Amino acid sequence: MLFSRRFPFLSIFRFKRWRFLAVAIAALSSILISWAVMAQQPVTLRLLMTAPDAQPWREAMVAEFEQKYPNIRIEVVEGPNATNLIEDLYTSAFLLGDSPYDLVNMDVIWTPKFAAAGWLVDLTDRVTPEQLEGFSTVDIEGGKYNDRLYRLPLRSDAGVFYYRKDLLDKHGLQPPETFDELMEQSKLLQESGDVPWGYVWQGRQYEGLAAMFVEVLEGFGGFWVNPDTLEVGLDRPETINAINWLRSTVSEGVSPPGVTTYQEEETRRFFQSGQAAFLRSWPYVWPLANADDSEIKGKIGIKPMLHAQGQESGACLGGWGLAISKSSRHQEEAWQAVQFFSSVEPQRNYILEAGYVPSRKVLFSDPQVVQKFPHYPQLLEIVGTAVLRPPIAQYAQASDILQRYLSAALTNRMSPEEAMRAAANETRTLLKT
Ligand code: GLC
Repeated sequence: MLFSRRFPFLSIFRFKRWRFLAVAIAALSSILISWAVMAQQPVTLRLLMTAPDAQPWREAMVAEFEQKYPNIRIEVVEGPNATNLIEDLYTSAFLLGDSPYDLVNMDVIWTPKFAAAGWLVDLTDRVTPEQLEGFSTVDIEGGKYNDRLYRLPLRSDAGVFYYRKDLLDKHGLQPPETFDELMEQSKLLQESGDVPWGYVWQGRQYEGLAAMFVEVLEGFGGFWVNPDTLEVGLDRPETINAINWLRSTVSEGVSPPGVTTYQEEETRRFFQSGQAAFLRSWPYVWPLANADDSEIKGKIGIKPMLHAQGQESGACLGGWGLAISKSSRHQEEAWQAVQFFSSVEPQRNYILEAGYVPSRKVLFSDPQVVQKFPHYPQLLEIVGTAVLRPPIAQYAQASDILQRYLSAALTNRMSPEEAMRAAANETRTLLKT
């Protein structure tokens, strides 16, 4: 006061200083307020999956998660039905650098490639060995690369052989065990006018073809790539026998010619509308084929895939799990989501909704699950015989080679020998690089 009385011109500065202070306080509080508002805004976690998977995901799990974690929203983006097309979409998103997906809904066959490329958060130190004990070992192994864990399994999967129990009973037949029996029974049922076609399988050029073929190959005693030695078995006689048998299903009129263009959903609709006696597919078919609107409700049975005389059968191991994208800006929220979706309760609801195979061991004998799905004991027996597609980092390219040449052989564009010689050579070159 005294000072300004002695130097009156200084009071202007004092006024300015107050004004400056007031403006600074206002600015600071508006920043703080907008931070607080932003902190309360829910974080959205995005993930991509096939359309048939998206519906049970949303219905069985997402609503419950969002209720439990009001600050996190889950955006399920529906993609195409083929797993390899979903993989391509994730891959191009990762290659562009800033992936729009926080969570990665991963097929078991993608782990080596995605982990080797450095696209996933390493989850190894976030889970204890005791926590991992709750899951089936094969499903955990499917999420590992170089002994590090990148994906927690949400559900398992395995190839299943479906048969029309009502038709077999009518003719006093037991379900077929061998590929030859399948042909004989198909022809009998077709000739007696019970069903127009015998057997449907996935013959289109896509990942489902490779999965189906692994089973036929196993049933003929062959192999694709030995993951330990990288030996390639595609040009061996067992592989040629497997292809010749698949070709014979069409040439002998047991499978419809269109089978070489079918994915899972085409084969399911075909079987479900009563047009075929036998089907190779995955467990998701069971609840749909037994729904009220199905022509074959209550008329089907399941068993492990077939084999050639003197050989053993094998189911292809499939399955899906969750990983976290390294470029996600919400990795902590994503981890909360991974933990929730892979825990027992949400998985039970998911299994009950879609008829999938659990990855949580306790659900194998869960009273609710077993009561709803009486075929569970057989399903578990099938999962026990599951064989892996080669767990190698170059799997996507190896599968692409097999799909191309196998499709050429199945559609008579190349002989099986010529096609598999080329496929084996390309695969060997790929594995050397
Ligand atoms: C199922 C399996 C998956 C496989 C795919 C092939 O979704 O779970 O592992 O790659 O079918 O179509």
